[in-house]
Amino acid sequence: MAKTKKTIYFCQNCGFESSKWMGQCPACKEWNTFAEEIVDKRELKGRKEVKDVQTTILKDITSSSEERISTHMEELDRVLGGGIVKGSLVLVGGDPGIGKSTLLLQVCKNLSGEDLNLLYISGEESLQQIKIRADRMGEFSDRLALLCETNLDLIKSVIEREKPDIVVIDSIQTMFNEQVSSAPGSVSQVRESTSILMQIAKGLGITVFVVGHVTKEGVVAGPRVLEHMVDTVLYFEGDRHASYRVLRGVKNRFGSTDEIGVFEMRANGLKEVTNPSEFMLDGRPEGASGSVVACSMEGTRPILIEIQALVSRSAFGMPRRTSVGVDYNRVNLLMAVLEKRLHIPLGDYDAYVNIAGGVRMNEPAIDLGLVLAIYSSFKDIIIEESTICFGEVGLSGEVRSVNMIEQRINEAQKLGFKKVILPRVSMKNLEGKFDIELIGVDNIKDAVDTI
Ligand SMILES: Nc1ncnc2c1ncn2[C@@H]1O[C@H](COP(=O)(O)OP(=O)(O)OP(=O)(O)O)[C@@H](O)[C@H]1O
Ligand SMILES: [Mg+2]
Repeated sequence: MAKTKKTIYFCQNCGFESSKWMGQCPACKEWNTFAEEIVDKRELKGRKEVKDVQTTILKDITSSSEERISTHMEELDRVLGGGIVKGSLVLVGGDPGIGKSTLLLQVCKNLSGEDLNLLYISGEESLQQIKIRADRMGEFSDRLALLCETNLDLIKSVIEREKPDIVVIDSIQTMFNEQVSSAPGSVSQVRESTSILMQIAKGLGITVFVVGHVTKEGVVAGPRVLEHMVDTVLYFEGDRHASYRVLRGVKNRFGSTDEIGVFEMRANGLKEVTNPSEFMLDGRPEGASGSVVACSMEGTRPILIEIQALVSRSAFGMPRRTSVGVDYNRVNLLMAVLEKRLHIPLGDYDAYVNIAGGVRMNEPAIDLGLVLAIYSSFKDIIIEESTICFGEVGLSGEVRSVNMIEQRINEAQKLGFKKVILPRVSMKNLEGKFDIELIGVDNIKDAVDTI
């Protein structure tokens, strides 16, 4: 059949497709990201006739109860929604050196003890290098096979021959497909490679884990393009200088996405952190102003975090505001609320807000914590160490209710806190349930009066 070669320009940042070169991508507004890629369009062989295609009545499909394989890492299982689903395609993204290969090799280690065959395919490291990492982790059984290869057609044939239960591809950016003429890592290569892996996963019922790199410059096609194609997207994040890592579900076709898993990077691999609150609050300063503990729900689990604020008089006319771990605009908004409702002149002050430990928290329930931390630093008042707070703050300074109150209070009680500052509207039905002092507040005025 005739073969037609076609030149297409792809945005290397978001994957936008265009027939001509453009300076700025209309989709993601990045400059100078278009690169020329040649796409071969071949006539499809063995196409099905429409009479061969049948629809199916939903009621007639017999459901086999969903089979989950446990990875023996509770933190990972929870983020996956209860374990690995057979035949799913899971993308693990993250910054360079954060521990993606370590995590997946560890999954292989745990599963190789079961009655499962595993295949770890690396396009980045040699067998020796993988061996060095594996030696740090401990004993592996002989069910794990390694392969160093980047040609996806060969990989596909090998998988079809070996029929493993779980395949790991490290990383998708190094894989290439002979039919696509652009370089490995380009949008069309990454997209084509993923669709081949998808066929493998769905067709043969093999679970495929794919590592994807994210670069800030967008030089390599980021896994953004892939997110739509795969079943589950997990991001591995954390401060590279701190030892703990957070695994976050961004998309999950088989479970909730607001769960997080916390790990600690050790010489012998990743260790699960089963009580993240204790870990996050480690090393809290004693008797310092501008520090308060807040409670944020991550999925079904409450996590206590320390919010720190430093408010100091601005040397220049333009006050500086910096936030680490929380939304910058949220901090600005809450400072405006404080200024307007409590009449404190924050406009002349620099403010730096930080969540200790380098985690990112987005839940509105930490608003009250932010307000109290900023106020405490401004007035130089020390908030009692055994106090925690949560509640959403509205624009008129009211403290609004949040969900899962009881779980939050339980967590605080478990970690030995004595006092909880919470929205008064959430206090119904809590009488006598806890041995911890509950202070209900209606607005931020009440809240700052309690400290
Ligand atoms: N001997 C060691 N002791 C403690 N930690 C180590 C040791 N060796 C490596 N690490 C940790 O492992 C990390 C690298 O892990 P890994 O190679 O799994 O990352 P990755 O995300 O796969 O990186 P890449 O993007 O390069 O593939 C290092 O950043 C370091 O924190
Ligand atoms: Mg790696």
